Amino acid sequence: MEIVNTEQAAAWDGHEGDVWTEQADRYDRAGGRILDHFVAADLIRPADRVVDIGCGTGRVTRLVAGTAVDGSVLGIDLSSRMLELARKRTADDGLTNVTFVQGDAQVFPFEANDFDVAISSFGAMFFNDPVAAFANIARGVCPGGRLAVLAWRTLPENDWLMELRAALAVGRELPMPPPDAPTPFSLADPARVQDIFGRAGFGAVECTPIDEPMMLGTDLTDAMDYAQTMGIVEGLTDGLEPEARERAMANLRELFALHETADGVLLKSAAWLITARSLKEG
Ligand SMILES: C[S@@+](CC[C@H](N)C(=O)[O-])C[C@H]1O[C@@H](n2cnc3c(N)ncnc32)[C@H](O)[C@@H]1O
Repeated sequence: MEIVNTEQAAAWDGHEGDVWTEQADRYDRAGGRILDHFVAADLIRPADRVVDIGCGTGRVTRLVAGTAVDGSVLGIDLSSRMLELARKRTADDGLTNVTFVQGDAQVFPFEANDFDVAISSFGAMFFNDPVAAFANIARGVCPGGRLAVLAWRTLPENDWLMELRAALAVGRELPMPPPDAPTPFSLADPARVQDIFGRAGFGAVECTPIDEPMMLGTDLTDAMDYAQTMGIVEGLTDGLEPEARERAMANLRELFALHETADGVLLKSAAWLITARSLKEG
């Protein structure tokens, strides 16, 4: 298996992937309202051959497999543990048109023209060379085939992350991620998306905003339990003195209490549904 995104592989096929696997239900629930837009966009046809990039524990993979009933879905991911759970859940659902493979989508040897559509739910923002990665994906997509990617808009537009960071900052100035680094925000700028996708062999690129709350917990207690496991919380509290850590967690509790509703702890998010078409000639 060739891996070029080695740092991402170390994280996702390591601690980060372990946490996502253990907290799979919470992660699935958190972004559920964003996913509803993906479903509503009616992007998949019954006979489609689909590839799901960065499929994780396979929530979207399974959802799409339920639509591509006469086609097939291949889920690809860096994380062996997330894939293990994805396989189990797929079998539990009785789906027979799904396969999973561990690999780095930037360099995975996809068969040429093997897919009608490539999708990704927040799994295509972490490439160290996005043009090479999307060109590799484009090779697997047939002439006229489609691409549909969910990705975050900028950090300042994502209240749920900004407010979480502010709660945990406890007097520190936190750096903003550079726009072109392999972070959750690497596809936030539509001009950059146009450039990357265009150079990779996709046209008719459209970025449609999705503004839905993230559900960070069913209630305050659940949100605090979830938060303790989040990479961002771990990263921002690591190395804090016990008193500062306590203050940070108290701030977080206050933030979640402020946003607790009858439907759970809800904070605003900002995502893109990015769609495009292969420019390949038939
Ligand atoms: C934020 S999670 C999203 C998981 C899933 N699609 C979902 O919506 O719940 C990002 C996923 O992308 C995967 N990923 C990141 N870089 C990748 C790469 N180069 N090739 C394949 N998968 C990758 C990670 O292993 C992780 O499972």
